[in-house]
Amino acid sequence: MTSADVRIAVIGGSGLYRLFDAGIEASVDVDTPYGPTSAPITIGLRAGRRVAFLPRHGGDHSVAPHLINYRANIWALASLGVTAVISSSAVGGVSPDYPPGRLVVTDQFIDRTSARADTFFDRGTVAHLAAADPFDPALRRLAIGALEALDENFAPTGTCVVIQGPRFSTRAESLWYRAAGAHTVNMTQYPEVVLAAELNMGTVNLSFVTDSDAGLAPVLDDAADPDAVSADLVFERLRAAQPRILAAIDGILHALPAEFAPRVLIAPEHVRAVLGRPPLS
Ligand code: ADE
Repeated sequence: MTSADVRIAVIGGSGLYRLFDAGIEASVDVDTPYGPTSAPITIGLRAGRRVAFLPRHGGDHSVAPHLINYRANIWALASLGVTAVISSSAVGGVSPDYPPGRLVVTDQFIDRTSARADTFFDRGTVAHLAAADPFDPALRRLAIGALEALDENFAPTGTCVVIQGPRFSTRAESLWYRAAGAHTVNMTQYPEVVLAAELNMGTVNLSFVTDSDAGLAPVLDDAADPDAVSADLVFERLRAAQPRILAAIDGILHALPAEFAPRVLIAPEHVRAVLGRPPLS
């Protein structure tokens, strides 16, 4: 078995920088047409499944959200044979129905990022992704079943507004996102999921609500809301929630069938053309 025989990937968000306690089979540096990935991709066994793991911020959280090489990360996973991606994210809750401590199986995003390279189809082939349901419905159903079996505190749907970062939102922006119908806010869920979909890989996102963004209390005094976001609060709460997040990922891994067939959203010959692009070096 080679490193190109791995079908499932976990992309770790903030606070999740390694997945395997022991038994890493391989650590691969994939040469991509888009430059380096955030970190080497480790391949190993988790919950009885062969899994590729990539921390999107790098192994030491040195890559800022707006500087992540999303195309390199997704191209590299696709080139290894991955068809199902479990992505983990930290999010703020902009709706009172999404309080800190809740897990969310995100189903929609609103893109508020700018100038991120967000397609593989910008030269040669023209292709238009149908993005109405960007996360894979079958993977989402599996994840919802797994979280129910764990008796988790979770929301089965959620709209995430993805901001450019690295700064957090103003109070006005946060209220605007809530009024626009968003439930959560994050800096990395776009363009990762659409890039994966462009290569016919399914994604399920598991978000953990760490904070209430700019603060849900209608006050001018941040100190009045203990859940108002700060980087320290996000990392502290992620650390505390690590066992829950890992148990949820394991539950989803257990639920995944051996051969998961994602949706075919882009003609396979177009995907082959992208994956046939020569590496940079
Ligand atoms: N990640 C975690 N909390 C966040 C917030 N409030 N805004 C953007 N990204 C986040």
